[in-house]
Amino acid sequence: VQLEETFIPSYFGWFLFASVQEKVKCTSMEFVKTLDTLDAFKKHLSDFTGKAEKEVDLEQYFEAKGPLHCTTKFCDYGKAEGAKDYALTPAVKDFYGSTTELSLTALFVTPRTVGARVSLTEEQLLLWPTDAEKEAESVVPAAASLPLGSRAHITLGCAEGVKAVQTGLDLLEILALQKEGQQGEPVEEMELGSLTYYGEGRWLLSLREPICTAACFSSYYK
Ligand code: A2P
Repeated sequence: VQLEETFIPSYFGWFLFASVQEKVKCTSMEFVKTLDTLDAFKKHLSDFTGKAEKEVDLEQYFEAKGPLHCTTKFCDYGKAEGAKDYALTPAVKDFYGSTTELSLTALFVTPRTVGARVSLTEEQLLLWPTDAEKEAESVVPAAASLPLGSRAHITLGCAEGVKAVQTGLDLLEILALQKEGQQGEPVEEMELGSLTYYGEGRWLLSLREPICTAACFSSYYK
């Protein structure tokens, strides 16, 4: 291992201020709890359980780990492709340690993950790797044709045995379906916004009012 590699973090991203983390966690927990009670959700329960009759407690189903953040670049301490180049990008140096406001525009739940979609501003996109969507192409073939920043999200929880990287892939999958013209099945108007079902256990809540949260651009070392 070269010395310089040890200075490249696990990942770069925007880290939510402690004061807003609780608010975001509570909002997502409320959503998950409500979803669990809906007849529409119960109708598609087998997406989650594999069996029609079995019950699922969504609150227990997902596990949250670490500080809430929106990853810009996963670097794996320099081992990930493009990690060094990203770390040396002038924008990374310029914005490092600066505060910004993230706009959360949707919440989504799949049998694997629960997350929040982050809609990036032009300025925030300066920190977004140009190949972030394309990198997901092997899993979500249409990903590369989605606009830059489509993958931006906050992982709020993962099912047992599921890695956090899955959250962004789940989001891209839903956005790819939308782009293909699949409207999804409108389920109902909830207090927070409108809920749509995209099949195979994919639920998207488009927020009526985006949740705005203060965050700091920084990096994480385990
Ligand atoms: P996410 O951004 O969806 O939360 P880990 O704990 O697995 O090392 O991951 C650390 C962070 O980096 C997590 O936030 C995770 O996902 C993100 N991440 C992990 N692997 C990748 C990857 N291959 N591509 C993009 N982001 C990744």
